[in-house]
Amino acid sequence: MTAPASLTALKGIIFDLDGVLVDTAQFHFRAWKRLAGELGIPFTAHDNEALKGVSRRDSLEHILALGKVSLTEEEKNGRMAQKNAWYLELVNELTPDDMLPGAKSLLDELRTCGVRIGLGSSSRNAELILQKLNISGYFDGVVDGNKISKSKPDPEVFTLCALHYLHTQPSDTIVVEDARSGVEAARAGGFFCVGIGHLPQADMVIASLEQINATLLDQALQAYRSV
Ligand code: BG6
Ligand code: MG
Repeated sequence: MTAPASLTALKGIIFDLDGVLVDTAQFHFRAWKRLAGELGIPFTAHDNEALKGVSRRDSLEHILALGKVSLTEEEKNGRMAQKNAWYLELVNELTPDDMLPGAKSLLDELRTCGVRIGLGSSSRNAELILQKLNISGYFDGVVDGNKISKSKPDPEVFTLCALHYLHTQPSDTIVVEDARSGVEAARAGGFFCVGIGHLPQADMVIASLEQINATLLDQALQAYRSV
């Protein structure tokens, strides 16, 4: 067995969940598209990009604004419950095999190296998904939509996770995100941000978690902090 990499800069890492560790971003899209269809609002994959990382309520408000539709508070609550029920039908089928490529081995390596691992998600379903994937035990801290008062792009989810649960500082902690709102949140909090997909605002952009490992992340953070 090879010895774990010895890291100098990286003390903590915070993963977003949907679209980073598991492909539930497409489940959110399918459920919102179905809801938008019922309201007669055209809703495309391009429109959906703006919803990634955004809370359930803010997502509904965004779709209603797209269609210039207004609903009462009671109707909004009903629509959110309906969307979540459709979303959970899809989530209930998840198994550990549904983790995105490279996610499980990266978690294993980071844990072996002693990096503190956090989850920073806007979702209120995060704990359920971690259980479905059987990865709850990897996390030193889980901050989800139930624990925050301000959704991404506010940095609250990441700063709370690092300072309160991981006991790390933004300067020695990396955030991994797949959403524009999440990259903005990470950068606003002073974190080095790895973006997955087309996210030019991120400090490092990758196509998949398979492209990174603990040593690469540590070196990237060192280089960024020494500038
Ligand atoms: C984020 C997703 O992780 O969680 C968003 O990127 C979603 O698309 C948000 O709206 C809230 O999720 P939930 O599960 O609480 O409806
Ligand atoms: Mg995401």
